[in-house]
Amino acid sequence: MNALVLLRALAVVAVLAVASHAAVPVELKLDALPQIDPTQFVGAEKCATCHASHYQGWQGTLHSKMVQRPIADGPGKTIVGDFSIPSTNHPALKDVKGVVGSRWKQRYLVEVNGEEVVFNGQWSVAEKKWQPYTAKSDWWWEGHKDWKHRSNFKLCAGCHSTGLDVQAQKWQELNISCESCHGAGRKHSENSRIEDIVNPARLSIERSMQVCLACHQAGRPHGPQTEYAWAVGYQPGDDLNKFWQGFAPDGKVTPEFWHNGTAKKNRVQGNTFVQSVMHDAHLQCSNCHDSHSGRHTAMTIKSASNNALCLTCHAPGQRQHLKEKTLPEHTHHAANSTGSRCIECHMAKTGENSVAAEARNHTFDFISPAITLKNGDPNSCNICHKDRTAQWSLDFVNQWYPKLKAASQRPDK
Ligand code: HEC
Ligand code: HEC
Ligand code: HEC
Ligand code: HEC
Ligand code: HEC
Ligand code: HEC
Ligand code: HEC
Ligand code: HEC
Repeated sequence: MNALVLLRALAVVAVLAVASHAAVPVELKLDALPQIDPTQFVGAEKCATCHASHYQGWQGTLHSKMVQRPIADGPGKTIVGDFSIPSTNHPALKDVKGVVGSRWKQRYLVEVNGEEVVFNGQWSVAEKKWQPYTAKSDWWWEGHKDWKHRSNFKLCAGCHSTGLDVQAQKWQELNISCESCHGAGRKHSENSRIEDIVNPARLSIERSMQVCLACHQAGRPHGPQTEYAWAVGYQPGDDLNKFWQGFAPDGKVTPEFWHNGTAKKNRVQGNTFVQSVMHDAHLQCSNCHDSHSGRHTAMTIKSASNNALCLTCHAPGQRQHLKEKTLPEHTHHAANSTGSRCIECHMAKTGENSVAAEARNHTFDFISPAITLKNGDPNSCNICHKDRTAQWSLDFVNQWYPKLKAASQRPDK
């Protein structure tokens, strides 16, 4: 047998071995993963020398604060959880190496056998209490179901940090920084040429939105099974679909979606927005969100709580103006009522962050109480009117909106 034939024979054996152990995933070779060049990243401080206002604005957003070093006291305090409450759901304060998140929930990075992993408990901001964080269903890689092997780098850092180098298992910056959305900027920082930096506004709408979807769309990496849970190797401007497969609703309840495709958890803005009429009309995330300003809740361009954001395009006189002449004619609530806020009906809190009904749905559909009666999905009315039945709401909806479109009723949308 010559060497080539021997190699082929071995290859067949290897394939058979894999096939007969189909349930045991094979770790992808590191050098088979797409690479980035870490030396091309310069960091936000460098960008700030020429783009001071963008830098200051970005510092006011949560993108700049996703992962922080633990500070338990004082003005720079980063720890939100109350470690004075005894609980098995938090590590000892002295063991905390990093804190992840602050708005809805906070998780903690600890070291186990020299690896940075995510502790199996979390602080729920809304409830002010410790709760378990097992998330077994989130991970397809058997090894990660045990939290002591739940690697921060492999499972989280790709969406929480900038410039991920899988060879060195390192990131260039701890947070979601300029180069997460603009690509590596060394050349541009040296010559200021616009050709040497990615400006999402100059990309096609699809490619531009993909910059956000790389992190804001639930899914899993393409191709051979991998233990990484983020789009390894993707850089702004690339075609995300080559790296990442977003989940789509299929009429069943999943961890991500309700029957009708609305958000059941956080981080599905991409998956839900693509179902909306506004996506079909070529809007994208940056029509409503300003990546360089934390002035309004959730970085919106204008305030959503006083309707200013939505009325930019839907006010009388605008092209997409509402059919009705006054707000109460459209909402059937007093103009100053929370029931007259666009986002409460069109971005109902159908999703969970650390508790149910926290995350806003991005299909922008009014969700009819008829859907709740049909399959139990949450609707736009009873999220506020908790003490009333869906039938109670539906009776008013039928009276107020006799021409309700099929879209908001269709359970299998
Ligand atoms: C030495 C100064 C300098 C540094 C450092 C610098 N920039 Fe710029 N940048 C410029 C100038 C000048 C322009 C405007 C060029 C023009 O309008 O022709 C610009 C334009 C841009 C644009 C808009 C490009 C376009 O298509 O219109 C983006 C985005 C940008 N910079 C991002 C960054 C980021 C991110 C960093 C850090 C990685 C950075 N810049 C670092 C000087 C700098
Ligand atoms: C594919 C990208 C992605 C991966 C992987 C990912 N996250 Fe996130 N994470 C996000 C995005 C985007 C948000 C913001 C979502 C939202 O507000 O709906 C978020 C939000 C969070 C929050 C809430 C932040 C707050 O201020 O309340 C925590 C905590 C968190 N992630 C922890 C983790 C941990 C721990 C892991 C790994 C085990 C992980 N995430 C993996 C993208 C990701
Ligand atoms: C979360 C993604 C994201 C982050 C982080 C981010 N940007 Fe941007 N940036 C964008 C998008 C999207 C645009 C295009 C805005 C638009 O559509 O008008 C943009 C545009 C710009 C522009 C062009 C001028 C303008 O305002 O349109 C500059 C300059 C810029 N960013 C600099 C920075 C710098 C410097 C940082 C870090 C301090 C940074 N950006 C962080 C997403 C981001
Ligand atoms: C590298 C991953 C990543 C990218 C790229 C990214 N985000 Fe995020 N985004 C996150 C994470 C993680 C959070 C949660 C931050 C936290 O709660 O501390 C977040 C939070 C947000 C929030 C909520 C902020 C708040 O105050 O609650 C908005 C809005 C948002 N992102 C919009 C965008 C838009 C628009 C883009 C594209 C221009 C984008 N993001 C790109 C990871 C990313
Ligand atoms: C930048 C402009 C713009 C902004 C801001 C905007 N919209 Fe829209 N909206 C549109 C356009 C354009 C359409 C598509 C109209 C069409 O094709 O019939 C649309 C469609 C819609 C529809 C679907 C209408 C239908 O025919 O089914 C709803 C609901 C909606 N928007 C709600 C909102 C809400 C709620 C906000 C605020 C969070 C908002 N919009 C902000 C431009 C905008
Ligand atoms: C009390 C609930 C409620 C509130 C608040 C509300 N809407 Fe609506 N909206 C509806 C319903 C119901 C429909 C009809 C949906 C359908 O036919 O599928 C609708 C339809 C729409 C449409 C498409 C048809 C049309 O009438 O032009 C747009 C655009 C829209 N709303 C925008 C807004 C904006 C902008 C605001 C805030 C100024 C707002 N809505 C506030 C319930 C609400
Ligand atoms: C038509 C406007 C509009 C578009 C388009 C839009 N958003 Fe939002 N988004 C909002 C509003 C309004 C809020 C809630 C603001 C508030 O609570 O005051 C929000 C909230 C969020 C949050 C905070 C989490 C939450 O549940 O409140 C994230 C993250 C986010 N959007 C990301 C995105 C991403 C990513 C895209 C694109 C795929 C996108 N959004 C498209 C208007 C929009
Ligand atoms: C953001 C919360 C919110 C949402 C969403 C909401 N409402 Fe209301 N609703 C209120 C409040 C607050 C009042 C108290 C009176 C007022 O402020 O107008 C009210 C009053 C009412 C009333 C009259 C008082 C009563 O209780 O008999 C009816 C009927 C009603 N809502 C039905 C609905 C229906 C149907 C929907 C869905 C189309 C809806 N509401 C969506 C907050 C909300």
